[in-house]
Amino acid sequence: MYLVRPFSEPGNPEATVCIVSGRGCLVRDDGGREYLDANAGLWLVNAGYGRPELLAAATRQLEDLAYFPVFWGFTNPPALRLASRLAELMPGGPGRVLFTTGGAEAVETAIKVARRYHFLRGEPERTGIIARHRAYHGLTGTALAAGGFPAYKEGFGPPDPDFSHIPPPYCYRCPWEQAKDCCGLECAHALEAELRRRGPERVAAFVAEPVAGVGGVLVPPQGYLPAVQEICRRYGVLFIADEIITGFGRTGRLFGVNHWGVEPDLMCLAKGLTSGYLPLGACLISEAVWKPFAESPSAFRHGYTYSGHAAACAVGLRNLELILDEDLPGRSARLGEYLLNSLSALDHPAVGEVRGLGLMVGLELVADRATRQPFDPKRWVGWELQEACRREGVLLRSLGDIISLSPPLVITEEQIDLVVAVLDRCLRTEVDGKGLS
Ligand SMILES: Cc1ncc(COP(=O)(O)O)c(C=O)c1O
Repeated sequence: MYLVRPFSEPGNPEATVCIVSGRGCLVRDDGGREYLDANAGLWLVNAGYGRPELLAAATRQLEDLAYFPVFWGFTNPPALRLASRLAELMPGGPGRVLFTTGGAEAVETAIKVARRYHFLRGEPERTGIIARHRAYHGLTGTALAAGGFPAYKEGFGPPDPDFSHIPPPYCYRCPWEQAKDCCGLECAHALEAELRRRGPERVAAFVAEPVAGVGGVLVPPQGYLPAVQEICRRYGVLFIADEIITGFGRTGRLFGVNHWGVEPDLMCLAKGLTSGYLPLGACLISEAVWKPFAESPSAFRHGYTYSGHAAACAVGLRNLELILDEDLPGRSARLGEYLLNSLSALDHPAVGEVRGLGLMVGLELVADRATRQPFDPKRWVGWELQEACRREGVLLRSLGDIISLSPPLVITEEQIDLVVAVLDRCLRTEVDGKGLS
C-alpha cells in the first residue's frame, strides 16, 4: 500500500477497512458490510452522509466556478456570503473571517492574528501562548506546539519556548481533588498563576477547546470558561476558542461557548463547517481585534491558496442552512442526553465515568472503579473494545482508555439503542473481568 495513514502503527495490517459509501449515520465498506459510524468520521459529518442538498450545492458551484483566490482585490460570491453568515453568528459579533483549508491552519491563523494584534498595538514582546495539557489543535508547527500531548511532538525538534501548558478541567482526575461543579475552579486560576509566572506582558493569547475532544471529552465545570475569559481580559491576553470539534451543533448549541455566554476574541472552525463534504476551515476575528489591522498601513501577509475556496464555501453555506433549518444543535442536545442516560444505565465494573455534552460523549474505562486506577496502557483495553465494536458493526474511537462517541447529529434513538447494545455486549466480552486481577 502506498497510502500513508496518519497514526497507523507500522505493524498494523494493510488496508483494514475501505469505506466506499455512506448514508445518514451508516457507511459501507468495499465488501458490502455496513457500519454505524458513531464517530461521524473524525467528529465532523454533523449533517450525516450522502445529503443530496450538499451534493447539489457543490455541483452547482463547481459548474459556475470551482475556485478563484480571495487574495488582494479578488473575491468570489460563496466566500463573501459564508463570511458574512459566520461573522453574524460569532458570539459577540459581527467579526471578520479568514478562511483556511482545515483546522490546524485555523489555529495557526488565530495565533498569528493574536501575535500581530499586539505587535500593531505597540507590544511586540507579547508573543507567548498558553495552552492546556491534553489539548489537540492539529499537527502543523504552531498548532502542534499549542497541543498538549508530548508524544505527538517527539522527534520533531526542541519544544517552542513561547508555548506553555496548564492543566485542563479534567474533573474525573482533578489534580486538586475537587468535586465537579462545586469546586473553586482551581484549573481556571492556574491560568492566572501561569500568566504571572511568565509575565502577562509577554503573553499574546490563551487557546482552549470549550470541550476538549481528543484529550478525552473533558466537559469543563460550570464557571470555567467565563472565569478564563475574565482572566484573559484582565491581563490583556486574547482568548482563542478552538471550536473545531465543538462547533456546528456538536455539543447541543451552535458553538460550544454558547453554553456559557462566552465571547472569544478569536474562534477556530473547521470539520462541521462543511460536515466534511469539502475541506474548509475558518478563523473568526472579533471586530475589536481586527481594528488595528484595519487601521494599519501594511497588509496582513497571511492566507492560503485555498482560502475562500468557492465550492467549499458553497457547501459550507448550504450545510449551515441545513444545521439551522433542521435545528441539529437542538437535536444534538436531546439525543446527546438520551445517549448519556443510556450509557449511564449500563453497569460494568470497568466504566469509571460517562460524560459529555450534546452528541460529544466519552466513557472512561478503569481497572478499579473505587480508586479510579487506570488500566495498564500496555493492555490496550480501549483499543480492544473499539476493535470488538467494529467487528460488531459499530465504529467508535478509543482515545487510550477513553471511548469517544460523536455520531452524525441526524442519528435516531433506535440507532443509539444499537450503539449502546453493542457497547454493552463488547464491554462484557472484552473488558469486564480484566480489572486488577
Ligand atoms: C480541537 C481540534 N483542533 C484542531 C484540529 C485539527 O484539525 P485538522 O486535522 O483539520 O488540521 C482538530 C482535529 O481533530 C481538533 O480536534
